Amino acid sequence: MKAIRIHDFGGPEQLRLEEIDCPAPGPGEVLIHNRAAGVNPIDWKTCSGGGASSFIDALPFCPGWEFAGSVEALGEGVEQFRAGDEVLGFIKFPHPASCYAEYLIAPADQVCLRPAALDPVSAAGLGLAGLTAWQALFEAGELKSGQTVLVLAAAGGVGHLAAQLAKWKGAHLIGTASGTNKAFLQSLGCDDVIDYTRQQVENLIHDADLIIDGVGGEAAIKALECLNPHGRMVTLPSVTAAEVIAAGEAKGLKVSGIRARPDAAQLHELAMLASSGKVMLNISDSLPLDQAAEAHRLSAQGHIRGKLVLSVR
Ligand SMILES: NC(=O)c1ccc[n+]([C@@H]2O[C@H](COP(=O)([O-])OP(=O)(O)OC[C@H]3O[C@@H](n4cnc5c(N)ncnc54)[C@H](OP(=O)(O)O)[C@@H]3O)[C@@H](O)[C@H]2O)c1
Repeated sequence: MKAIRIHDFGGPEQLRLEEIDCPAPGPGEVLIHNRAAGVNPIDWKTCSGGGASSFIDALPFCPGWEFAGSVEALGEGVEQFRAGDEVLGFIKFPHPASCYAEYLIAPADQVCLRPAALDPVSAAGLGLAGLTAWQALFEAGELKSGQTVLVLAAAGGVGHLAAQLAKWKGAHLIGTASGTNKAFLQSLGCDDVIDYTRQQVENLIHDADLIIDGVGGEAAIKALECLNPHGRMVTLPSVTAAEVIAAGEAKGLKVSGIRARPDAAQLHELAMLASSGKVMLNISDSLPLDQAAEAHRLSAQGHIRGKLVLSVR
């Protein structure tokens, strides 16, 4: 089977399309015939030696933590699926999951059925960003209906789903993006859109109950000014989480980081919302698997609108 792998940490030029043996499922696992794999910033960060690279025991490493495909074979003890079932998954994170491949092994309890109305490319891009948004809003963020939510980087993979889920829960919604994404953010349900290239959000907003921060660093620290005294921020970029949390604590504000975790029940709920049109996954581009290096270059530029996906078959 074909898979994308790196043999050394580095830039997109390290990604190689290789012919390798097809894996076999162990107890509690399923073999997936992959249709598509989602691309996320953690993929290129990890390949370059940051991100989740500390969880890689040995190279070569095959990137990718989310997919949509069909069940090809069942490991011992798997009773909830049958061969041929169409499924999606966000799996094993932050441990290697090898989703940039024609076949992959998934823990059966981290996979859910794909609703027929949800196409495989959209399904492949839903898991990591969707569960991050879900867990940031509803677990760490404890969002309640009627609250004001500010999403920093609302046009990105996590941000565009967080915006829609916040609106779905009845929030007043503010999003930041560059001016070219204004109409896109309005289409997601944003009541107010702030162009971060022309306006400083900390000068405009002072009553947010919850900030979902997809930017991190100095921008996140400045955005703490947007919270009301009882508000909270969930900061997503792990590389700056400690400094953002410390800055929040110094102001007496609640700030937390999260690490998204696989959750098949939440993923199925998201898939149902997406298949019914209540949440829309914007696919900025779908590239063939052998263009994974180009996908990493695009993702690293930091201006993907929604999600990038690699189509496998
Ligand atoms: N902790 C976790 O478990 C976890 C999980 C998922 C993601 N993350 C992290 O969260 C961050 C966001 O992830 P993602 O997948 O949403 O990234 P992404 O899709 O690559 O985000 C791209 C978006 O960021 C926007 N953007 C760039 N700079 C901005 C700024 N200064 N202000 C506002 N928007 C800006 C861009 O909008 P414009 O084109 O309009 O500039 C673009 O639409 C990444 O650092 C990622 O690694 C963490």
